[in-house]
Amino acid sequence: MSIEVHIEWERTTQLVGRLYSAGRGQAVSFEYSAEWLAGQSTFAIDPTSIPMQRGMMHSPVLFGAIQDCGPDRWGKILIERAVRKGVLEQRPFQEIDYVLALDDNSRIGALRFRRGDGEAFLAQGPGKLPPVVQLPALLRATEAIHSETETAKDLRFLLGQGSPLGGARPKSAVAMPDGSLGIAKFPKPDDVRDIAAGEILALSLARASGIRTADHQLVPMGGHAVAVIKRFDREQGCRIPFISASSLLGLPIGEAGSYTMLADAIRQFGDDVSGDLRELWRRMVFSLLASNYDDHLRNHGFLMHRSGRWSLSPAYDVNPVPEIERAGINKTSISEDGNEPSIELAIKASPRFGLKADEAVRILHEIMIVVQNWRELGQRLHLNASQLNAYASAFENDFVKEAQEHV
Ligand SMILES: Nc1ncnc2c1ncn2[C@@H]1O[C@H](COP(=O)(O)OP(=O)(O)OP(=O)(O)O)[C@@H](O)[C@H]1O
Ligand SMILES: [Mg+2]
Repeated sequence: MSIEVHIEWERTTQLVGRLYSAGRGQAVSFEYSAEWLAGQSTFAIDPTSIPMQRGMMHSPVLFGAIQDCGPDRWGKILIERAVRKGVLEQRPFQEIDYVLALDDNSRIGALRFRRGDGEAFLAQGPGKLPPVVQLPALLRATEAIHSETETAKDLRFLLGQGSPLGGARPKSAVAMPDGSLGIAKFPKPDDVRDIAAGEILALSLARASGIRTADHQLVPMGGHAVAVIKRFDREQGCRIPFISASSLLGLPIGEAGSYTMLADAIRQFGDDVSGDLRELWRRMVFSLLASNYDDHLRNHGFLMHRSGRWSLSPAYDVNPVPEIERAGINKTSISEDGNEPSIELAIKASPRFGLKADEAVRILHEIMIVVQNWRELGQRLHLNASQLNAYASAFENDFVKEAQEHV
């Protein structure tokens, strides 16, 4: 099978190259087009796995940047149910089939795919995203998926208009009241706490700690809450190229990486290198103090604003994890040695992020003050006592105690 890979860049959609896959295995090959290689402001869409060079490049699995705009656990559940119920005709065999099943209009990043010249970009959806007023209907459809009572209409709704995007949790693309794109993240029946409330609180604390975050809001809905987050990969209707940190490092699936490896990638591919290194250190320390344990490297990403240079995207998927739920989650290590993270190790590693120890301690202090006032900020966000109490052990933890000893 051969697929044309296009990208929206400088307000036009341009052919980047062709992706080839054979049979039912996962191996793929990619070749940049002659036009793209000869272009003035063109770049590698995945600089580690598919550098800008002539000829065919091969991989045993789908290239990271292409995988990044495909579905993860939630989207795959929808696609598989849709096949079972005859909503989708063809069973996906390879990772690329899952990528192609997602709606083109709301696809993450700037890549677009089609089977050949003159064909429509895949997957061609209804073209209109559900407005936020349809959140209750979207939530009802996700609940039907969880209870396995969904109809073909629910599946068409969630896979088409409300594209599932990436990630494990139930979510949907939505149109914000000003016409921009957003992501709605829904509760699941087996959630033991209000996950959306925790995510919005953590994003608000991150922003108050000086971290760039996507705009976000909590929308109460019956007994639940839905997190609505503005998409950062669209600007005035144009698509912005996106790559996950994991793909920028060329990490195989299941390989964790570390913050210092990411710092090296910023040195190699970054746009504002010193600014992003500091920002990354701030995010790393915030993740310790706010118990953001699910900070795997697909939860860090980069956007391209200037040809060939990657900038840290606003922070996303920041989730405080209460102490009781931490067993078994592997937090991303600070450095390649893979040691258990600590504030002391973060300060020791600060030169890798271009920081002197006293600057690092000053930033640590700023974040610590914000996290210590977590309950007050939560109250300002109108979270109720039970929503807040569920997160007490996430914000009142040993890293905060350790930080107090350093400032
Ligand atoms: N505000 C945003 N703008 C653009 N893309 C985003 C935004 N937030 C998330 N994404 C993209 O969507 C993907 C899924 O979102 P997110 O990580 O929030 O979902 P999740 O289901 O909580 O993920 P996980 O599987 O890590 O728990 C991200 O990996 C990222 O590629
Ligand atoms: Mg995620």
